[in-house]
Amino acid sequence: MSATVEIELDLEQRATAVLPAGNLGNTSTPIVIREGKGGRIWDEAGREYVDFLLGSGPMLVGHAHPEVTDAVHAQVARGTTFFANNAHAIMLAEEIVDALPCADKVRFVSSGTEADLYAMRLARAFRRRDKILKFEGGYHGMSDYGLMSLWPQRPGNFPQAAPDSAGIPRSVRDDMLVCPYNDLTTAENLIREYHDELGGVIVEPMQRLLPPVPGFLEGLRAITSEYGIPLIFDEVVTGFRLAYGGGQTYYGVTPDICTLGKVIGGGFPLAAIAGRDEIMAHLDRARVGADAFMPQIGTLSGNPVAAVAGLASLRILKRPGAYERIFDNGRQLWAGLEAGLKDAGFTVCVTGEPVMFDALFTAGPLKNYRDMMAGDAALAKRFTAMLREHGVFKSESKIYVSLAHDAADIKLSVAAFAAAAKELARTRTD
Ligand SMILES: Cc1ncc(COP(=O)(O)O)c(C=O)c1O
Repeated sequence: MSATVEIELDLEQRATAVLPAGNLGNTSTPIVIREGKGGRIWDEAGREYVDFLLGSGPMLVGHAHPEVTDAVHAQVARGTTFFANNAHAIMLAEEIVDALPCADKVRFVSSGTEADLYAMRLARAFRRRDKILKFEGGYHGMSDYGLMSLWPQRPGNFPQAAPDSAGIPRSVRDDMLVCPYNDLTTAENLIREYHDELGGVIVEPMQRLLPPVPGFLEGLRAITSEYGIPLIFDEVVTGFRLAYGGGQTYYGVTPDICTLGKVIGGGFPLAAIAGRDEIMAHLDRARVGADAFMPQIGTLSGNPVAAVAGLASLRILKRPGAYERIFDNGRQLWAGLEAGLKDAGFTVCVTGEPVMFDALFTAGPLKNYRDMMAGDAALAKRFTAMLREHGVFKSESKIYVSLAHDAADIKLSVAAFAAAAKELARTRTD
């Protein structure tokens, strides 16, 4: 056994001793990552992979981009956190306000979970009603509210929400309503029925890998406007990824509030709530008074290191051709993945948008969470593991495409998709 493989095995054992389940909670993939550069990563055993995990999305411009690392190095030498205002956070807020149609004002936090939790609270504070409508399978972080009907194993009747975690108070069920994604008629009926109790509606403009069907987001916008209910777009994934102006620009529907994360922190812990001035005013006691005020404090909010990393990333993404290149990379990878699996005899449905997508082992069509459940997850897991053997690293549920992926990465990956698919077909037991 080589020394590097031993180092990795040793780390895996040590992880089991000190980390619950032997991991950081994010993935059980038995690999310890040592470093990343551009579109590639290396593990502690020295194996190299084309990386489609991208830190679960933040590294849209690639790992260790020189412009991002230079900005970070310069800031680290000048102090790493101040709590009080700093110029970089103000500039990042300006950039967000310029880029996103719904954003008049921005409040920074450190994670997408926090951003979603506060966005829902902000909607409730503005509307003075308690219930939030979400869509089954929609990911809005790990708060008590976010974990309602995110991954229900035995989905129940709509609009009853079900907890996906131990430890969530029973009372939370009464404050969440759940609707099937892409089903405008059911959403409209629920909103009409509950409008007087609803504080807000939260939705991922593209829910996981499900693009909205034409008219769905537009219809949600119309009915929420009719009743004056804040519409929240969770753009933690889609913000600055589907387009510089996020999912709201890509799909052409403007919410009242959006949440951002991942890309805007350039690989550091930074997320944000952005929205209409009238709603964001609830974060300003002087404007709304003590009763309507929503306090929100975070030790690392708007941290200057994260802000400079985010600003540098956005500068790179803003250059002409950046999104064309990411989308072009994605289209080539999508075609290679689909062809590899279909040529090996699998019935698959590739779903998403070119910047993030994956193959589900089902015939489709895929419009909502229950359709997604039809995918053969065990087969997808084995395919993902086989891809690692061929030098491609992805999560079990998504391929994230980066600006840094180059022709060599794409060539290697397309060959890996075909080879892993053939192997999967050979070893298929069912
Ligand atoms: C759509 C969406 N919202 C919220 C979150 C939570 O973000 P974080 O992991 O930064 O708490 C995620 C995380 O993947 C997400 O995909």
